Amino acid sequence: MTASQEGAARQEIEELRQRLQEYSYQYYVLDAPVVEDVEFDGLLRKLQQLEEAYPQWKTADSPTQRIGAAVASGFGKVRHLEPMKSLANAFSAAELQSFHGRVTGALGQDVQYVVEPKIDGLAINLCYQDGVLLWAATRGDGFEGEEVTANVRTIRSIPLKLRPVNGVVPALLEVRGEVFMPRKSFQRLNEEKEENGEAPFANPRNAAAGSLRQMDPQVTADRELDAFLYGHGVCEGLEWQAHSEFLSYLKEAGFKVNPLYRLCSTMDEVVVRCEEWDTLRHELPYETDGLVVKVDSLAAQQLLGSTAKDPRWAMAYKFQAEQALTVLLDIETGVGRTGVLTPTAVLEPVRLAGTTVSRASLHNEDYLREKDIRIGDTVRIHKAGEIIPEVLAVLPEKRTGTERVFSMPKHCPECGGPVERLTGEVAQRCVNSACPALLREGLIHFSSRDAMNIDGLGPAVVHALLKAGLVKDPADFYALNVEAVAALERMGEKSAANLLAAIEASKQAGLSRLLFALGMRHVGVKAARTLARAFGSMEALQQADEMTLMALPEVGAKMAVSILEYLQKDAVKLLVVRLQEAGVVMTEEMTQEAGANRLQGLTFVLTGTLPSLSRQEAGVLIEAQGGKVSGSVSKKTSYVVAGEAAGSKLEKAQTLGVKVLDEAALLALLAE
Ligand code: IVH
Repeated sequence: MTASQEGAARQEIEELRQRLQEYSYQYYVLDAPVVEDVEFDGLLRKLQQLEEAYPQWKTADSPTQRIGAAVASGFGKVRHLEPMKSLANAFSAAELQSFHGRVTGALGQDVQYVVEPKIDGLAINLCYQDGVLLWAATRGDGFEGEEVTANVRTIRSIPLKLRPVNGVVPALLEVRGEVFMPRKSFQRLNEEKEENGEAPFANPRNAAAGSLRQMDPQVTADRELDAFLYGHGVCEGLEWQAHSEFLSYLKEAGFKVNPLYRLCSTMDEVVVRCEEWDTLRHELPYETDGLVVKVDSLAAQQLLGSTAKDPRWAMAYKFQAEQALTVLLDIETGVGRTGVLTPTAVLEPVRLAGTTVSRASLHNEDYLREKDIRIGDTVRIHKAGEIIPEVLAVLPEKRTGTERVFSMPKHCPECGGPVERLTGEVAQRCVNSACPALLREGLIHFSSRDAMNIDGLGPAVVHALLKAGLVKDPADFYALNVEAVAALERMGEKSAANLLAAIEASKQAGLSRLLFALGMRHVGVKAARTLARAFGSMEALQQADEMTLMALPEVGAKMAVSILEYLQKDAVKLLVVRLQEAGVVMTEEMTQEAGANRLQGLTFVLTGTLPSLSRQEAGVLIEAQGGKVSGSVSKKTSYVVAGEAAGSKLEKAQTLGVKVLDEAALLALLAE
């Protein structure tokens, strides 16, 4: 190899890294992808090959180095270069006003405040040396935390390398923020955990913390963590005048900054923001437990200083978690797709965080025992991750002596077969592989939204089809005819025709949905997508061996074994052939990657001044997901996104009954 060949390769490596870093930033931080996934994957593979050929130029900040090897022992400790403080809490407008009184009293003048969402995750400290991520640590006791670098590297929205801003990269910079798990990911993770007989996480915060403390970065990578950054510790080589200016720096340097922060020039404005936040926060795709109010001027922050625990220039305005009291009327046991028995509380209906709740998850027998939950108890409930109603505690003082202790059934409530608790699992399972519940739940899963997404084929219709003996496995869906379906209870010609059209359309769902729909253990939505992208066809996947599977960045040993065992079953091979013969697409149409075109067919009109995005930016975000932006409102408009001083377009939307979104709701829709 000549020196000039080597030089050319080195330059190519550099260029590829830059391009990939830029694409990742557009995708994970700005949520506005600029290239197709296939192109990204192709470039990444090319870089991998070059780095293998020239190992002397492998660097830790390369986009190929997101997922490293598992650690054998526990996490080491790291000392934060500057301590990580906590925040004092306020629970009312009056407490905020007295905070303001202290601030202006000490400074002798008025100040501006930045109000930011208080993300309910776990605090993280990222240390960059000469622009490269050196280590990442949890908060710990504020002075010393656990070193979780390998796991933090798997979070795609966290840059491994800073983008220079005005040509400058700081010599040393500690960036602080919050790692969190979006609600949807939390819900999916817990569903998977329950199906696998494992104990679920109590809330997204615990799920994020648990995920960051995994020994195997591959597991963390599969957990869909994200991060918003909002603060700094030590900083050498850069200066700012105000916190808001620092937030802009963070954005430009490549970090994800929560776009919903506001600059307020009076405390009254802050209070209004806190009040409106109480409703806004429910619409967000992640959890917040309040707002953080910070003095904007850094000079003023310095003058105010800190107590031993908290800065005097900031205050957390916290919401009380929404809870309700009700009576637990009964406990029912359901059987899931993998045979896991799940106890569910039947409650006296009660209003909670916007809906009427009449059932709540009790997870497993250990959960019932730990909390000593009995039938007839008065219980306190909440929504875990704002979605899933859950029993938090019992009120023993309300007991009358008539409450009954519940025991999990010894036999499957569906088939009467034996129930076993497998070693290492918290769940009891029906071990009869022919249990009708397994078949029914598997069919419901097959047609569900993240799977084949067959409209109109929910639990009730699946029940009816099974009862009528029309389906025995998913391939039978594709052999249904209108007459037979129309004859089902509460069906009729029209709905039967619609259902068959939806089933027909699902044939085009693509390989990643199909793989998820088949319900292989340990294969969630994300893993299914990875497999589909890597192999491109069912046939290629069927020929893969353990090594090939495990070479994929997000596939571990447990998943690889589960995939192989599943695909080797004769019944599965037959099912695949029948699905294929029915015309179900067994390849991945790369350009129609799930997510990229989710807003297809929707028309948006933007009006007024949005708090953080310009109308043009909002338009780019909408179009990136396949939506259309139009200048005028008509009956056909799907959404009007209205900001401040929205005029006639907003009025027209209201007259026509077109749905109106504010910026937060738009962002939530985009992040869904
Ligand atoms: S500022 C010295 N800003 O809340 C300033 N904290 O209850 C310290 N948190 O430990 C933090 N969102 O983990 C700040 N926008 C935000 C935040 C935030 C969430 C967390 C953080 C902190 C805890 C204090």
